[in-house]
Amino acid sequence: MSGDVEQVAGWVRDARQIALLSGAGMSAESGVPTFRDAQTGLWAKFRPEELATEDAFRANPQMVWDWYAVRREMIAKVEPNAGHLAVAAFQRRHPNRLTVVTQNVDGLHQRAGSPGVLALHGNIAQDKWLDAPGDCCTHMEPVAGRPPRCAKCGNMRRPAVVWFGEMLPARELQAAEEAARRCDLMLVVGTSGAVYPAAGLARIARGKVVVVNPHASELDDAADVVLRGTAAALLPQLLEEGPG
Ligand code: APR
Repeated sequence: MSGDVEQVAGWVRDARQIALLSGAGMSAESGVPTFRDAQTGLWAKFRPEELATEDAFRANPQMVWDWYAVRREMIAKVEPNAGHLAVAAFQRRHPNRLTVVTQNVDGLHQRAGSPGVLALHGNIAQDKWLDAPGDCCTHMEPVAGRPPRCAKCGNMRRPAVVWFGEMLPARELQAAEEAARRCDLMLVVGTSGAVYPAAGLARIARGKVVVVNPHASELDDAADVVLRGTAAALLPQLLEEGPG
C-alpha cells in the first residue's frame, strides 16, 4: 500500500461521517463506458445535445429512445465491480457512516447492496411521462412503441434520467449537500468534475477531500490528496478493515 493510500485508509478509520461522490469512472471496470474519456467515452461518439436533452427527445423520440434502450441492455448485463462491493460491505459493517452520492444512472451501487444511494441524475432502468400526465395517461396502459405513448393524448414515456438543462431531483440534491456539509471525509471517485451542481459537492465538503482517478480531473485542485488509480483497485484498499 503506498504512503498516500495508507494515509487515506487512516482517515477512513477515523472518520465518523464519510461522503462518497461517484461518477462514470466508478463503473468503468464493470464495462460501462464513461462519458468523456477520449475515444471510449460516449460523448466521443455521440453528441450529448442530440441525445441527452428534452429538445433532442422531442425532435427525434425514436432515436433517443433506442439509444437509451441500447445502454439499458448493456447495463443490465454488467455486474458491480470490486469498488461498488467494497463500498456496500463497508456500509454493512458501519451502518449510517457512509453516504453514497452518485451521478451514475446505472444502479450498480444499489445492485451491490448500498443502502440510501442518492442518485442525482436518476435511474436509466426507469421511465416517466415526458409531460405532466393527464387522467388518460395514468388510467390506461401506454401504447407499446419506441417510445411508448398514451393512447389518448400521445404523451410519451421517457427515461427517468436528468438530461442536460434539467433540474436535479430536489430531495436527493438537498440530502447530498447535507452529507457534504457534515462529512469528515469525502471520497470523490471516477468523475471528471465537469458537471454541476454534482461537482460542486466536493467544493462544499466540510471534511478532507480525496480524489480517486487514474487521470487528471477538474476537482484535483479541491483535493487534500489525489490517488492516481482506479475505483476497483483502490476502494477495497481504502475501505477494508486494516490489521489490528
Ligand atoms: N476508476 C476511477 N476513475 C476512472 C476510471 C476507473 N476505472 N476510468 C475512468 N475514470 C475517470 C476518468 O479519468 C474521468 O475523469 O472517470 C471520469 C469519468 O468522467 P466523465 O466521463 O466525465 O463522467 P462523469 O464525471 O460521471 O460525468 C458527469 O456528465 O454526461 C453527464 O450526466 C452525465 O453523470 C454524467 C455527468
